Amino acid sequence: MIRAGIIGGSGYTGGELIRLLINHPECQIGFVYSTTRAGSPVYKAHPDLLGQTDLLFVDQVDPEVDVVFLCLGHGNSGRFLKDWEFNPATRIIDLSNEFRLEEKASLRKRTFVYGLPELQKERIAEAENIANPGCFATAIQLALLPLADQGLLSDKVHIHALTGSTGAGAGLSETSHFSWRNNNVSWYKPFTHQHLGEIYRHLNQLQKASTDLQFLPLRGNFARGIFATVYTSFGGNLEDAQMYYREYYREAPFTLITEEPPDLKQVVNTNAAHIHLHLHEGVLLITSVIDNLLKGASGQAVQNMNLMFGLPETTGLQLKAIGF
Ligand SMILES: NC(=O)c1ccc[n+]([C@@H]2O[C@H](COP(=O)([O-])OP(=O)(O)OC[C@H]3O[C@@H](n4cnc5c(N)ncnc54)[C@H](OP(=O)(O)O)[C@@H]3O)[C@@H](O)[C@H]2O)c1
Repeated sequence: MIRAGIIGGSGYTGGELIRLLINHPECQIGFVYSTTRAGSPVYKAHPDLLGQTDLLFVDQVDPEVDVVFLCLGHGNSGRFLKDWEFNPATRIIDLSNEFRLEEKASLRKRTFVYGLPELQKERIAEAENIANPGCFATAIQLALLPLADQGLLSDKVHIHALTGSTGAGAGLSETSHFSWRNNNVSWYKPFTHQHLGEIYRHLNQLQKASTDLQFLPLRGNFARGIFATVYTSFGGNLEDAQMYYREYYREAPFTLITEEPPDLKQVVNTNAAHIHLHLHEGVLLITSVIDNLLKGASGQAVQNMNLMFGLPETTGLQLKAIGF
């Protein structure tokens, strides 16, 4: 049995990890650390877990657990690892953006490998620590990796990605306030979103020639999911494109090419990414949908843990979509 610690347990990604790991056949939760709720039952922060776990939040760590998931806001992961020492053999999976870029991918003696299995499953299997990808970065890279792999990103790439309110975490803000968010849509950080750095870095790993990404993030009035549309010039026909995508994802159990245009509900509450291709007058439209808290965060973190510990990557991740 793998023993896991979760840091930031009362937040959204921490809550998702608890839900996944209490049902994981090869992993048990050693502790759930919280700065604000130590001594309180986990189900008080996550009422849907009533009857499913007797765990209490704690404010101490067990430094000997096999794996630690850091589910903290930007800038807190490195600080936490400086404050708390873990056994050097303890694997760290960080869900923040702190270790995703090359120049920041190490801290003291720890080096972090970027945890997108569809990009580098073998490196993840040998990694000691993982920088888990961002949610937009996951949806967008899954839309573009097969084209980069073929060296076909030659023109500008236009990206619109609509996210639900859980993407911004559990803390209340003006744009997650119900009265504002309900029945509303807006864009933010046009062409400058912080996930662009990790997307460029890893597309360049496959295709050396520079790529120009025009990314407009959008806020939607729903709680979960990312609906991304990505389009760029493409010289071939639709069958060529579908062949590249099916071939690239042939060993990716969660990333599936759909024949019909996808909608969000078919992936929400699952670790799946559904990708659809449409060609119109030399422009390839790629639609990529994921659950931001699962394939975009905690589900992918468990997928990475499975790979690191030699388990089938789908272990504990056979989840059911809501559907309707
Ligand atoms: N939400 C998403 O869809 C998503 C997707 C991909 C990646 N991420 C990344 O995952 C990380 C967590 O996101 P989230 O949505 O779960 O955020 P969140 O709901 O705001 O939860 C973060 C938790 O961190 C703890 N915390 C806050 N300040 C802390 C500090 N100074 N030291 C230690 N713990 C602290 C708090 O939990 P306690 O009160 O229990 O300590 C808080 O609930 C972020 O870096 C985010 O960018 C999020």
